[in-house]
Amino acid sequence: MSTVLQVSRLSKSFQQLQAVKEVSFSVQAGEAFGLLGPNGAGKSTTIGMITGLLRPDVGEVFVCGEKMALDAHRTKQYLGYVPQEVALYPDLTARENLMFWGRLYGLSGTHLQARVAAVLELVGLADRAGHRVATYSGGMKRRINIAAALLHEPRLLVMDEPTVGIDAQSRSHILETVKELNRQGLTIVYTSHYMEEVELLCDRVAIMDQGSIIALGTVAELRQIVGEESQITMQLQNWQADLADQLLALPTVTRVTAQGGGLAIASSNPSLALGSIASVFAEHDVIMRSVEITEPTLETVFLHLTGRALRD
Ligand SMILES: Nc1ncnc2c1ncn2[C@@H]1O[C@H](COP(=O)(O)OP(=O)(O)OP(=O)(O)O)[C@@H](O)[C@H]1O
Ligand SMILES: [Mg+2]
Repeated sequence: MSTVLQVSRLSKSFQQLQAVKEVSFSVQAGEAFGLLGPNGAGKSTTIGMITGLLRPDVGEVFVCGEKMALDAHRTKQYLGYVPQEVALYPDLTARENLMFWGRLYGLSGTHLQARVAAVLELVGLADRAGHRVATYSGGMKRRINIAAALLHEPRLLVMDEPTVGIDAQSRSHILETVKELNRQGLTIVYTSHYMEEVELLCDRVAIMDQGSIIALGTVAELRQIVGEESQITMQLQNWQADLADQLLALPTVTRVTAQGGGLAIASSNPSLALGSIASVFAEHDVIMRSVEITEPTLETVFLHLTGRALRD
């Protein structure tokens, strides 16, 4: 596998404030990598240095093996950048905005027209392309922003909180689009403070807080930091307490606790455990009235590591 992005010991200060401290990670071709952290964690500052818009005080960024710098114009062509703030001309139509961006990327003629049509289709706004951007909803503007970043067919798509403050429909459209682009092989760096989005989209996640990466791994690896297993909570009928020992003997079941009219069962693999539990119940005519599985989330991980909630 080839490394598309290599970030080595990046640091950046604004006057007294150290916004990014010794941040290092790498992203492999085809990966979706998440940068998760609360407001002010240093995500946008890190992204600024990755995209060559901000000069690091210390450290280096390599994109497709080439060193990123403010004037590294060829290296910048490898990446598509979706900024946190919408960057479109409101008085131009979406198509005109995209034609403008495409020319900045060096596209022209029928190739430019074809790319504009393709990205409009991709973000689901082909039918609105002739309307002025001023008439668009916040979510639609964001979708055009994403389209602009894809015009030149980048190898790496860097997205800075692309779903903040938008309607649910645009949000799910954006998440689907990103998922599909990644399925097609595009490498993605996705920044968010919504842990559900990062959990849904990303193969690996770096959790940032106060300028530093405080944890990095797959979602499953990060959950293991908390050391909590999933919990299966069931409401039962016709239940006898002596069945608890039988359940505890099942593989992947680590704890069985009576709770209200049912049981709370801790398990390292709830889907596997549920099958065996259901068989035990069937043998003893126990009726399951409801089942709920709750997993430790990245929110729990953040709380565990910092003692604070990810969101205010
Ligand atoms: N140009 C700047 N001048 C001074 N301080 C800055 C500048 N840019 C960022 N900072 C500060 O650096 C810290 C990190 O900011 P950054 O924008 O990277 O955070 P973030 O993780 O992207 O937050 P958010 O989720 O709010 O977008 C913050 O304390 C911010 O106020
Ligand atoms: Mg930011």
